[in-house]
Amino acid sequence: MKKKLWGGRFKKLQDPEFEDFSCSMYFDYRLAKYDVLGSIAHSKMLGKCGIIPKKDAGAIIKGLNVILKEIEADKFIYDFTAEDIHTNIQNALEKKIGKPALRLHTARSRNDQVALDTRMYCRDKAKEIYDLVSALQNSLLDFTKENKDVIIPGLTHMQHAQPVLLSDQIEAYVWMLARDKRKLHYAYHTADFMPLGACALAGTSLKIDRKYVAKQLGFKALCENTMDAVSDRDFVIEMLEAASLIAMHLSRIASDLVLWTTPEFEFVQIDQQFCTGSSIMPQKVNPDFLELVRGMTGRIYGNLFSVLTMMKGLPLTYNRDMQWDKQPLFDSVEKACKALSIFAKMIKGIKVNKANIERALLDESLYATDLAEYLVAKGLDSRQAHSVIGKLVATTLERKRRISALTLSELKKFSDKFEKDALKLLDPKVSVASRKKGR
Ligand code: ARG
Repeated sequence: MKKKLWGGRFKKLQDPEFEDFSCSMYFDYRLAKYDVLGSIAHSKMLGKCGIIPKKDAGAIIKGLNVILKEIEADKFIYDFTAEDIHTNIQNALEKKIGKPALRLHTARSRNDQVALDTRMYCRDKAKEIYDLVSALQNSLLDFTKENKDVIIPGLTHMQHAQPVLLSDQIEAYVWMLARDKRKLHYAYHTADFMPLGACALAGTSLKIDRKYVAKQLGFKALCENTMDAVSDRDFVIEMLEAASLIAMHLSRIASDLVLWTTPEFEFVQIDQQFCTGSSIMPQKVNPDFLELVRGMTGRIYGNLFSVLTMMKGLPLTYNRDMQWDKQPLFDSVEKACKALSIFAKMIKGIKVNKANIERALLDESLYATDLAEYLVAKGLDSRQAHSVIGKLVATTLERKRRISALTLSELKKFSDKFEKDALKLLDPKVSVASRKKGR
């Protein structure tokens, strides 16, 4: 059995199968950097407050800094048989500096330690994801600049609705992502409370200085209630919610793009770098990246629900159930980062096929609303105007005539308000320009 941070009252060794089941090293090694940074701040405080000898604090800090450098340089050798990353770092420090290391865990429990590490991870990742969302927004905005005047058929119910600027549709995505950033900002602030000093659940009789630790680690405030500090995982849920919102938005953008790449549309072409072929159909260039992102949403929602369910009904305070918060958290964070990063590159490589878009705009039903509003401007009430244009569209479709080919007298049979200028409305540019942007 591996060296543990406990064991004094045990007369039996852990069942090896359970020991393996209990081990979190294979996922919580991701917290290594935060664990060491937290321990450095903690030991500085212990030394400053005279809780441990200054000399020992100095040795601990020196040893931890060496470990930190090893972690950052990817040179730290993780012990995947340790119970968890906290045990692994403690053991590694003991190996490096010997006895003084035994004072590190003074006035601390793994309960407040893991809460600290996870909060620090969430703060960092909220910032990282925020920047990746910004980068994707920039790619989208560059794309709108390159395709400033392109007009597409806007859809409702996936049916032709009205002509819109392609850039307006792309900007809609940019706004979705802006809301994701607001959520990430919120997630960051939810995590930004310092739990260390709560110890197992009830704090400590030793005269620690929590504010000093918080300040060193850049936390804006302390977790005030020690029982809440060790049992709260709202900040994890907040991150998982942010990832869910991002995944849902990316999935919707992906759906539009998949639709636009179909041979029925062929409005855009996705760079082959982000596509995959078929093992049997030689002609295929499938938009697999977009589909993978869309499908990933289920997994990201699952991660959120996994932690929400794990937390539901947990009595105060710390319970080991909470170890299961990490894989969903890491998975959602890592998947969101990757998807956002690839998405931004993929957008840069999109080619717009203007000829096909122009062909789609020949559908004159796209201008029905403009024609109805024309009649409203001439004095008809909106229900009347709606009905007149409805009949006009139905009749021309039945008779296989184009509205633009009708004579003025034919138009007047539908409404005497029609003048020659009505036909000028059957133009995507006129249509888009006539609708002042509602901004
Ligand atoms: N691996 C544990 C977790 O993720 C660390 C805290 C362990 N605390 C305890 N009392 N066993 O929650």
